[in-house]
Amino acid sequence: MSTIKVEDVAYVRFSAPDLDAMEQFLTEFGLVRAGRTDTALYMRGTGPEPYAHVTQKGEPRFVGVAFRASSAADLEKLAKAEGRAIDALDGPGGGQVVVVNDPDGHRLEIVAGREAAQTIAVTREFPTNDSFFYPRQNNPKRVGEGPSRVKRLGHLVLGVSDFARAAEWWRARFGFIPSDQWPEQNPRGAFLRCDRGAMPVDHHTVGLVQGAVRFGHAAFEVADFDDLMRGSEHLRAKSRQHEWGVGRHFLGSQIFDYWADPWGHIVEHWTDGDLMDADWGTRKVSPDIVRAVQWGMAAPATPRETPARQ
Ligand SMILES: [Fe+2]
Repeated sequence: MSTIKVEDVAYVRFSAPDLDAMEQFLTEFGLVRAGRTDTALYMRGTGPEPYAHVTQKGEPRFVGVAFRASSAADLEKLAKAEGRAIDALDGPGGGQVVVVNDPDGHRLEIVAGREAAQTIAVTREFPTNDSFFYPRQNNPKRVGEGPSRVKRLGHLVLGVSDFARAAEWWRARFGFIPSDQWPEQNPRGAFLRCDRGAMPVDHHTVGLVQGAVRFGHAAFEVADFDDLMRGSEHLRAKSRQHEWGVGRHFLGSQIFDYWADPWGHIVEHWTDGDLMDADWGTRKVSPDIVRAVQWGMAAPATPRETPARQ
């Protein structure tokens, strides 16, 4: 049993000294402005979350990550169990938040009561023909140019100092289930998914990897494979810093493409990931496949990572 079960990741929060530069990058990445003040920038996807990425004005760093509780009652239950206050949430959509820190000091914001935003319509103009099914007829495919259409934040990866301690802390409070963990004995890393019972969810909403305490990356779901490639071309044309991709992961099976924001925080585009329900259980896997690809660009030998937190 866990104190509550969170439904999904909600947003990532950063600070950066230049909100204009961040907004320009995120617009090229495929997010849309949801709100802006003198000190904060809120960017959203096309889905109903009022925002998926926050930047506060300040020194460049990862501030924290938010997860969505299923109800105000769950938020109260968590606040009581953790001895924390329920505060008003900043930004578009309002809502309430309980802030907790994991054993390594990562800031987690558990939110409820956010007002859903009007979704931004992204239509599938061009179905994909393959050798099994030919739904596109008399309709030449034209992908067009421009940013990817980011729908939502899907997951993030964090470095933790003690994997076993962190995994148990995250499970006991929020119900996270390891989907794949590695190595087979005495795991030092895992991809965790939300427990929504029979409802299939993303293979991972959080990755916890033992090592330096740091932000790894945040990953945003785009419309489809063509949309991911269109966004990759767009970011390349804007001379943005490319990190890794395009390829298909083993764990989670996503097609991926990684980029860096102007301060070196890694953000990922992904599409076509695995969905699992709670009964799928946990796999123990070799660490060799964590950063391996089924096809595409091999992982950089020395991935650029944000500095470990002091
Ligand atoms: Fe990822």
